[in-house]
Amino acid sequence: MRLPKRIKLVEVGARDGLQNEKDIVPSAVKIDLIDRLSDTGLSMIEAGAFVSPKWVPQMADSGAVLSGIARKTGVRYPVLVPNMKGYEAARASGAREIAVFGAASETFTQRNINCSIAESLARFAPVAEAAARDGVTMRGYVSCVLGCPYEGEIAPAAVAQVSARLFEMGCAEISLGDTIGVGTPAKAQAMVQTVAAEIPIERLAVHFHDTYGQALANILACLELGVAIVDSSVAGLGGCPYAKGASGNVASEDVLYMLEGLGIETGVDLGKLSAAGRFICDHLGRAPASKVAQALAAKN
Ligand code: HMG
Ligand code: MG
Repeated sequence: MRLPKRIKLVEVGARDGLQNEKDIVPSAVKIDLIDRLSDTGLSMIEAGAFVSPKWVPQMADSGAVLSGIARKTGVRYPVLVPNMKGYEAARASGAREIAVFGAASETFTQRNINCSIAESLARFAPVAEAAARDGVTMRGYVSCVLGCPYEGEIAPAAVAQVSARLFEMGCAEISLGDTIGVGTPAKAQAMVQTVAAEIPIERLAVHFHDTYGQALANILACLELGVAIVDSSVAGLGGCPYAKGASGNVASEDVLYMLEGLGIETGVDLGKLSAAGRFICDHLGRAPASKVAQALAAKN
């Protein structure tokens, strides 16, 4: 196997992980979580979403969270923005990095951000221009890359098309999201190869949810192609409010354990990461979904 020597882990637990929690997690707990994650060696920690509080109430305090965290040098804290209103609010709260989020499925786009794919790209264009003007780095998400809760199978060509548009707009990296976790390794590889025909593979991230228990296998299959950026969520927190049945994101602890076993560098400390996972799970009153976190807890 030829695998990248180093992988960048993008921690999405404080956003993707928490956005679906019914009970509002206090800002102080979110801030504490992000500060603990900042101390693990992670270089990119998603810190919130400047979306409509009516749509995603859990993210309504993203401004307070972003201004409350102790930013660590060398760590980047992107936040999701769906439109110019979100961009302006994010900037007013000190965001230096943003992410726009589209999808390869028309129906999911409608349910998630209330517009068509074409309209979503038109909304992102001024955000991209403002970000370029302000020196703000922008990431682009594409959801439903291996299946949609409403439309079923999604053609890799549809994923490549949206990804290419986001890349042309100026996204520094494109995160390919298997939002409902239906993918399997060969399909994941075929999708990544189709997108990589349009965008350099070093600019692609993979974002797997573990609904069907395929996430680690899918990640490994994508690493074999040269993907070197992996999104994950501490303790396997997560789901998606607009994708019924989507279970948690792949757990950061599980990804890290696999990468360590493969001799791949990440710069992240597994002990500190699982402690951060225990912290948020103690607050939520449940055990971490991460198998590695469970195994480590059983050993101690
Ligand atoms: P809309 O209702 O069409 O928006 O929602 P609108 O422009 O018609 O405005 C309606 C109201 O929303 C107005 O307020 C606006 O001011 C307000 P009112 O006058 O009624 O009081 N509004 C906003 N408020 C705060 N922040 C904003 C904003 N924009 C408008 N940015 C909108 C469109 C995009 C806003 C809405 O659909 C939305 O917020 N959706 C967010 C959905 C979301 O966050 N989903 C989860 C993230 S995606 C994901 O998890 C997948 C990912 O992890 C990858 C993967 O796994 O695949 C990234
Ligand atoms: Mg997600």
